[in-house]
Amino acid sequence: MRKKIVAGNWKMNKTHSEAIELITGIVEMSYDDSVQLIVIPPAVYAVEIEEMTSESSVGVGVQNTSQYESGAFTGELSATMIKSIRVKYALVGHSERREYFNETNEVLAEKTNQLLKNSITPIFCCGEVLEERESENHFNLIELQLNEGLFHLDSVQILNCVIAYEPVWAIGTGVTASSDQAQEMHQFIRKLLMNKYGENIANDISILYGGSCKPGNAKELFANADVDGGLIGGASLNAADFIAIANSF
Ligand code: PGA
Repeated sequence: MRKKIVAGNWKMNKTHSEAIELITGIVEMSYDDSVQLIVIPPAVYAVEIEEMTSESSVGVGVQNTSQYESGAFTGELSATMIKSIRVKYALVGHSERREYFNETNEVLAEKTNQLLKNSITPIFCCGEVLEERESENHFNLIELQLNEGLFHLDSVQILNCVIAYEPVWAIGTGVTASSDQAQEMHQFIRKLLMNKYGENIANDISILYGGSCKPGNAKELFANADVDGGLIGGASLNAADFIAIANSF
C-alpha cells in the first residue's frame, strides 16, 4: 500500500541557526507515525540535518541534483554525493527549476536516472501554469511532463519514485487548488500510471499535492482518495504548521 507523505521544501530560506532551530522543533514534536515526514533544506545544511534526524523517522532530501555523474560542472551537486551523506530523497523538476533554470523534461529524465542509480527516491514534480489551465490544456501538459520526464522508467524503477502535482498558479500565491481540482488531476495521473504500468503499481505510488497547502486546508485535500500527502513550501518553514499538516490525514 502506498505511503502517506508530507515533505517540506524550504527553498532558499533560513540561515544556519534558523535551519537548526526549525529541524530541532520538528524532531521534538510528535506526529502521526503512519506518515513519512521529509524535510528538504538547502543542501548546505543537509549533512548536519541528516545527522540530527538519524534517530528519528524524519527523512531528508535535497532540492536539486545534477543530471551529470561527476566532473567539471562547477556549482553542481551529484546524486553520488547526496547518497554519500545518506540523504534519501531529492526533488526533481520543481516548477521554479523548470521556470528559472530552464530545466526541460529531457534533463529531468536524466536527473531521475542519476538519482535511481544511487538509490535516492526522486520526488518528481509536475504542474501547469494558469494559462494552460484556462485554455484547458492542463491534462495534456501533465501527461507530456510525465511521459518525457518519468515514464521512460521500468516498473521496478517507477516504484521507487514519488510524484508531486503542483499547479504553478497555486505555489506561494495563497490560492490553493480546490479539493475537487486536486483529486481530478491526481486521479488522472494515477490513470496514466495504470495505463503504463498496470493497476497494482499505480496503486502503490504516492502522489502528493503542492501549492499553498497549510494547516487550514490540508485535511480537506488529504481526504481525497488519490491525494497521498503534500509537498509544502511556505508552511514548512514553521515547525508547528508543518507538524499540523502531517497530522491532517
Ligand atoms: P507553497 O509551495 O506551499 O509555498 O505554495 C509549494 C512548493 O513550491 O513546493
